[in-house]
Amino acid sequence: MLTLGIETSCDETAAAVVRDGRDVLSNIIASQINIHKMYGGVVPEIASRKHIEAIGYVVESALSEAGVSKNGVDAIAVTNSPGLVGALLVGMSYAKGLSFVLKKPLIGVNHVEGHICANYLNEKKENSVLLEPPFMSLVVSGGHTHLVLVHDYGKYTVLGRTRDDAAGEAYDKIARALGLSYPGGPAIERLAQEGNPDAVAFPKAMTGGYNFSFSGLKSSVLNYLNKARMSGTEISVPDVAASFQKAVISVLVEKSIAACLEHKVEAFALAGGVASNRALKEAMSAAVTREGIRIWVPSPIYCTDNAAMIASCGYFSLKQGKISSLDLNAIPDIIAM
Ligand code: KG4
Ligand code: ZN
Repeated sequence: MLTLGIETSCDETAAAVVRDGRDVLSNIIASQINIHKMYGGVVPEIASRKHIEAIGYVVESALSEAGVSKNGVDAIAVTNSPGLVGALLVGMSYAKGLSFVLKKPLIGVNHVEGHICANYLNEKKENSVLLEPPFMSLVVSGGHTHLVLVHDYGKYTVLGRTRDDAAGEAYDKIARALGLSYPGGPAIERLAQEGNPDAVAFPKAMTGGYNFSFSGLKSSVLNYLNKARMSGTEISVPDVAASFQKAVISVLVEKSIAACLEHKVEAFALAGGVASNRALKEAMSAAVTREGIRIWVPSPIYCTDNAAMIASCGYFSLKQGKISSLDLNAIPDIIAM
């Protein structure tokens, strides 16, 4: 069964064709990052306009690269929540049009659920085993930080989420304060490699239970920078980047491990844009492996926004009988998974 996935929730226009929820036949991503870079972050109105310009050729490219005609597709999966409302509507309108004309089922996909499903993709890595539920997942992206217990395909319990900034958002805001460009995650990761993670003891940002909070850590870094600038003390940007990154990673690892142990899972899946961070992957891998838990982390191209993960999610939703009607609406906020 071939699923066409469409993703336009933020600043990537993406389309992909995936067979049986696992095998990626094509994965096309038109990134708008270079445009939004000029403004230091995503400008919603510009994002919508750029999606409109790109959606047609992105979908056509995904189909032609997969060697599939429009009629050869069995289902159309599209992100309908959460995200920028104008941006979501572009992908959804296109998907609805295709679904109506081709008479193929339409499946609305939750973007956060999509990130988790990136771990179902068969990347044909050596000795790789296909992930199947149950497992624990940590979704760390620019908009979300969710610790999720996956009972079965499409069946989730959200154990915790961020109370304020998402992990990626904290990276982006600190990068901006350090004079680095958007998106901040890769820039901080690069600099952190040259810095001392123990140079500044930033607070670990702990909250009760499995919820997260990164605004206190963010304020602490900003205060440190302001104080140093006012007193004329020299700032080592690599040291601040490394110390900030250490504080973020340690809380992500600590809470993930506690959740894995409490729920006695044997598998753990990292997801979202921040999951492409090598230091996080290594720290999480070491911690879960110590507990005898197996870890899955998608390749970086499937960690950041893409449509293969949406197609995979759509396939498993369809198998559960979840089909959307043409009055499917865009829901900007995350309500439920
Ligand atoms: O999943 P994603 O592409 O979009 C959302 O759904 O938000 O994630 C984008 C976020 C950005 O905040 C970006 O700074 C962060 O992921 N990110 C990283 C890295 N690569 C991307 N954060 C830390 N280290 C990275 N290597
Ligand atoms: Zn995302």
